[in-house]
Amino acid sequence: MQRKTLYQTVYHRLRYQILSGDWPIGSKLPPERKLAEEWGVSRNTIVHAYADLETEELIYSRVGSGRYVQALPPPSALPRLHWKDSLPGGSALSAPSLMTELHALVGTRSALNFAFGEGGNHTRLKAQFAKGIDPLHILETSEADYLFPVQGLPELRSWIAEWMGCEQITEPSQVMITSGSQEALQMTTAILANPGDSIAVEMPTYFGALHLFQSLGLHLIPVPVDNEGMRIDVLEGILSRSRPRFIYTVPTFHNPTGTILSEARRQQLLALSEKHAIPIVEDDAYRHLHFNQEPPPPLKALDRQGNVIYINTFSKVLFPGLRLGWVAANRPFMERLTRYKELSISTNTFVQHALWSYLQKGAFQDHLQEARCHYQRQAAVMDEHLRQLIPKGISYMTPTGGFYYWVSLPEQVSPKELLQKAIEQNVVFATGDMFLPRETEQPFIRLCYSHETEAGIEQGMRILSSLL
Ligand SMILES: Cc1ncc(COP(=O)(O)O)c(C=O)c1O
Repeated sequence: MQRKTLYQTVYHRLRYQILSGDWPIGSKLPPERKLAEEWGVSRNTIVHAYADLETEELIYSRVGSGRYVQALPPPSALPRLHWKDSLPGGSALSAPSLMTELHALVGTRSALNFAFGEGGNHTRLKAQFAKGIDPLHILETSEADYLFPVQGLPELRSWIAEWMGCEQITEPSQVMITSGSQEALQMTTAILANPGDSIAVEMPTYFGALHLFQSLGLHLIPVPVDNEGMRIDVLEGILSRSRPRFIYTVPTFHNPTGTILSEARRQQLLALSEKHAIPIVEDDAYRHLHFNQEPPPPLKALDRQGNVIYINTFSKVLFPGLRLGWVAANRPFMERLTRYKELSISTNTFVQHALWSYLQKGAFQDHLQEARCHYQRQAAVMDEHLRQLIPKGISYMTPTGGFYYWVSLPEQVSPKELLQKAIEQNVVFATGDMFLPRETEQPFIRLCYSHETEAGIEQGMRILSSLL
């Protein structure tokens, strides 16, 4: 090992004293002669070291007063940090926000809105949600300001477990209330998969899920959807070649296509999940919005091995501004989820109490029944207009519940151009590319019939028809 010269030893010792804070910022350095005596070196050695430290801008001299430790590390030695352009989690979020795009589209409240997947004013008000709620009473009688179990209000969780009515979910401990099902999906995804992992996802799929998965750096293995829902035969092929961390599905009144996974395919999907030990994340946001016929049971109700993580929401049966959803799963998963949820403390407790007091008044089931009939009528109005467009080359499947028509356009029609023209006439809808991972011009549009009144649907569809 090469020995340090005396000068180097002195220089490094001084430098260390400064950078370690032994000699604090702004403090006066010992005079050369004194330090030389103290350290048993020549004065020249100290002079030389001080000069070098000054060149490095670690110290500075004040005429007639001596030398001091610089207030800041030498600025030239520090690279400029362009923090706004280099947020560690930023790259995944740098893609344009579909959410913002969708909201910008609707822009003015006067637009005829076939874009938003929610019940709209009429349903929201008809639910009489506010009528059942006395905020003062909630504050006086509950601990709504307190952060009771992280999993959410126990009474509400029991109610949900009972409502779900399946043998797999019987206890409040198997249910967690979340800030909408989007948070439920975000937490579930973060627990099940790491950035870089693969997951199997229906394609097209709900754009909030798509955006979330992409932002978390997951590789999406697309599984096509046909009239009977997810193509399980294709999934089987995928699972013979790769091991996705989970399978994400909206099996009932799928968003955007409106399809229902048939009972046979539900069994096949569960069998595959069991065979390969891959969990299924079942997003069941539209289950309760069927028309005449109840859909097949949720995958969770058929789950034999605890492989299904079930997610649902009050956003579609009441209104999205509530931001209340839930996750139901087996206890080990719920324990992990609870630890994760602790990071954001809990879901809005006051709103949970409000929902609980609304549910206790008993108006919810009537509202739900009414809403189903309401949406069915709206869907029929839209259908009437769509049918007349079939000769022009459009095709679609008539939904039996949920909120959407997934409409295939004639080849020569560009969905984006159609949207532009529609916006000019105050009609908005979602284009098919929003539900697919790449910027592709898909010949599809999604028309949501739940938001507008029947008169609004008539008007909007007349405009769309004239553009096609
Ligand atoms: C399939 C699906 N899951 C989840 C959500 C989001 O629901 P929430 O408002 O509860 O976050 C939506 C909303 O469009 C959806 O279509």
